[in-house]
Amino acid sequence: TRTYIVTGSASGIGSATAELLRERGHKVIGVDLRNADVEADLSTPEGRQTAADRAVEAAGGSVDAVIACAGISAPIPLTVSVNFFGVTEFLDRLAPVLARSEAPRAVVVSSMASLQPNSPELVDAMLAGDEAMARQIGQKLADQGPQIGYLNYPSSKRALSRWVRRESIGERYAGNGIPLNAVAPGTVLTAMTRELLAAPEGAKMVDENVPMPLNGHSEPVVIARLLAWLASEENTHLAGQTIYCDGGADASLRGDDI
Ligand code: NAI
Repeated sequence: TRTYIVTGSASGIGSATAELLRERGHKVIGVDLRNADVEADLSTPEGRQTAADRAVEAAGGSVDAVIACAGISAPIPLTVSVNFFGVTEFLDRLAPVLARSEAPRAVVVSSMASLQPNSPELVDAMLAGDEAMARQIGQKLADQGPQIGYLNYPSSKRALSRWVRRESIGERYAGNGIPLNAVAPGTVLTAMTRELLAAPEGAKMVDENVPMPLNGHSEPVVIARLLAWLASEENTHLAGQTIYCDGGADASLRGDDI
């Protein structure tokens, strides 16, 4: 059995992932704002440090894999802090601990939204590690209303997928024998999408932006199974990738652009 740290464990994809791994006999330390083994706020630098320290302590000092699911989609700069810095800083803190495992793995949750229009300036600020600058750019977007403010979300996921690509081949991850990847779900039935999908106009907009010809919207366990494999001992060579688990949405939207 292995020991996993799962963020966003109180709801949706994170909750399904924690449950699946526990069913399979593994030890899971859940991290979330509330209703978790470790209750901490990944939107702040202090919260990330507290979350990492307490999770390692709860794991008894040895961790085999980290699966970072916590995320929000609000049209405000907080989204950048949770979805990008709340993942990358948290993982970077845990990498030295993971490195002591015989089969360490790290997986994050990106999104189909990583392919949507975004703010390149905001993406660059995140990748430069400048959270204050990123928040400033994100706030300017938010000030122009929710439609422009929404750019905080696709920008956070574009930056995250690009970060995975860059870091996966560097000293901290490849150098420590840690395959690092992202999963990009299509539309998943969770708290994040419930309200939007309940309204006919909302559902129509979602389906236009994320067309899913195969099997439609997915249950969170569908994503959990892929996350579990990427974080398992079986995955020795898949690294730096964003895997679209999206009912064919990426193939529909990007077509031959590969
Ligand atoms: P959810 O809302 O059901 O779960 C997200 C969890 O993250 C919640 O338990 C929440 O408390 C936690 N969280 C939020 N802010 C936090 C913070 N500051 N510190 C600690 N925990 C925090 O949402 P869902 O759908 O399970 O989302 C999981 C991930 O999947 C997110 O990164 C989201 O962007 C991504 N995703 C979701 C899709 C969907 O259709 N539901 C599609 C593509 C990506």
